[in-house]
Amino acid sequence: MRRSLVALTVACALGGCRAEDVFVGADLDLNRMLEQPRVDPYEPDSLRVPPAGTVPWASEDAPDAAAVRTGRRGGAPVGRIPVSVDAALLATGRARFDVFCAPCHGVAGDGRSVVARHMTLRPPTSLHLDRLRALAPGALYGVVTEGKGLMPAFAVQLTPRERWAVVAYVRALQLARHAPVARLPAPLRSRLEGAP
Ligand code: HEC
Repeated sequence: MRRSLVALTVACALGGCRAEDVFVGADLDLNRMLEQPRVDPYEPDSLRVPPAGTVPWASEDAPDAAAVRTGRRGGAPVGRIPVSVDAALLATGRARFDVFCAPCHGVAGDGRSVVARHMTLRPPTSLHLDRLRALAPGALYGVVTEGKGLMPAFAVQLTPRERWAVVAYVRALQLARHAPVARLPAPLRSRLEGAP
């Protein structure tokens, strides 16, 4: 560094220019590189402002992220499905159920399947048992996530959202078997009651 500086100074002297003109204000010990204007992570200026009306969904900062992931809140299984249940979620739930659950529990969830006939030691249960209808959604999610007895865990095959979709679809299957006629929409009810 110093040698090239001398060389440059000499070159300048020979060439007729003055060293002060070349090195005006230069900081040769490179301290200037340690202090540069910059914005540190999470300083207000570094954060992007989310568009107005943004609602966090299952992000690490969302208060319910843990419930979505674990199915538990404060140690207890959640009593409500913590993602919004709509037609799209139920469609996903049906698709995943038919692939991952129906081979053992049957397409209708009643435990009638070829696999069940051969799992004589501990057959897959009917999902329509009173005990399972009364199970909190978080507990159902726990069974899908961790498995139970001879039933495998599905944490690897299904994302949390897909597991909730399956839970919602199981609830729909249970409702389909157990909804009282009084809860049907009027046109369906009259069709049913008018049937011979
Ligand atoms: C390989 C077969 C198999 C598959 C696939 C399977 N299960 Fe099971 N499942 C079982 C068996 C066997 C049991 C009984 C476990 C026991 O009580 O030891 C069971 C039990 C259950 C129970 C009752 C748990 C309880 O508290 O008694 C639920 C709910 C359930 N399964 C839901 C599902 C859902 C939802 C899926 C799909 C994501 C699924 N199962 C996939 C075999 C299976």
